[in-house]
Amino acid sequence: MRPQCLVLEKKEVLFLANVDKTVNPPAPNHIAIIMDGNGRWAKKRGLPRTAGHSAGAEAFRRIANYCRTLGVRYLTVYAFSTENWKRSEEEVGGIMRLLGAYLREAIRDMEKNHVRFRFFGDLTQLDPHLQKLCWEAQNQSSAYEHEVQVNFCLNYGGRDEILRAARKFAADVAAGKCSEADLSESVFSNYLDSAGVPDPELVIRPSGEQRTSNFLPWQSVYSEYVFMDVLWPDFKPADLDKAIEEYHRRNRRFGGA
Ligand code: FPP
Repeated sequence: MRPQCLVLEKKEVLFLANVDKTVNPPAPNHIAIIMDGNGRWAKKRGLPRTAGHSAGAEAFRRIANYCRTLGVRYLTVYAFSTENWKRSEEEVGGIMRLLGAYLREAIRDMEKNHVRFRFFGDLTQLDPHLQKLCWEAQNQSSAYEHEVQVNFCLNYGGRDEILRAARKFAADVAAGKCSEADLSESVFSNYLDSAGVPDPELVIRPSGEQRTSNFLPWQSVYSEYVFMDVLWPDFKPADLDKAIEEYHRRNRRFGGA
């Protein structure tokens, strides 16, 4: 039996006993994470920044596995932004190599792990080998419809995503496939990289920084943001539990009274 079932069973028992319903509340359906603090983690140890990213990749593995045991349906992670190209060639190359290694491993273990992959961002600017791995991971995992889905934001910027979506919509209007009057929020959402993926309920940013950095601006308008002081490489399942507890303390009104 998966731990997810154990959690649900425990919760049901607690409900019957009329105990505080906030004990073991269910995890949100969609959690998004800005994996921040790798550089500072490395600096504190006198290590190169790439060592921080390697430790960050390990933290991702740990948290992705934990999300699966919690029954989280979608996990979206900010792995490389449209602004991250400003970093040194060595650092950019290091992050790309980690992503490539992870994707090769994910493709190899796909039949065992059943994780579904999607990629948000403009992949056309990536090295062709990495692009190929992204498409392979996405296509080969597309059948795992009911399993956890990891959305990697790669060469992703929220403003860039919106511009690319606007261009695609304008091209469809020019081709006579639809008209300007057809445009609504739900129609526009389908032009975004995240088409078909529900908005995240919870966005977590570790490392102590309190800004959104061009991450999912369209999708996160009503997300609950939880900022945490822990650096991403140190992020543990217990930190995710804390963020989920904080999420459940929020009063989500979506603009209503
Ligand atoms: C932000 O921390 C982190 C990034 C720009 C890169 C994130 C990449 C990874 C965690 C590795 C990707 C690989 C896999 C398999 C997920 P920062 O470098 O800006 O940290 P700082 O603010 O402390 O300098």
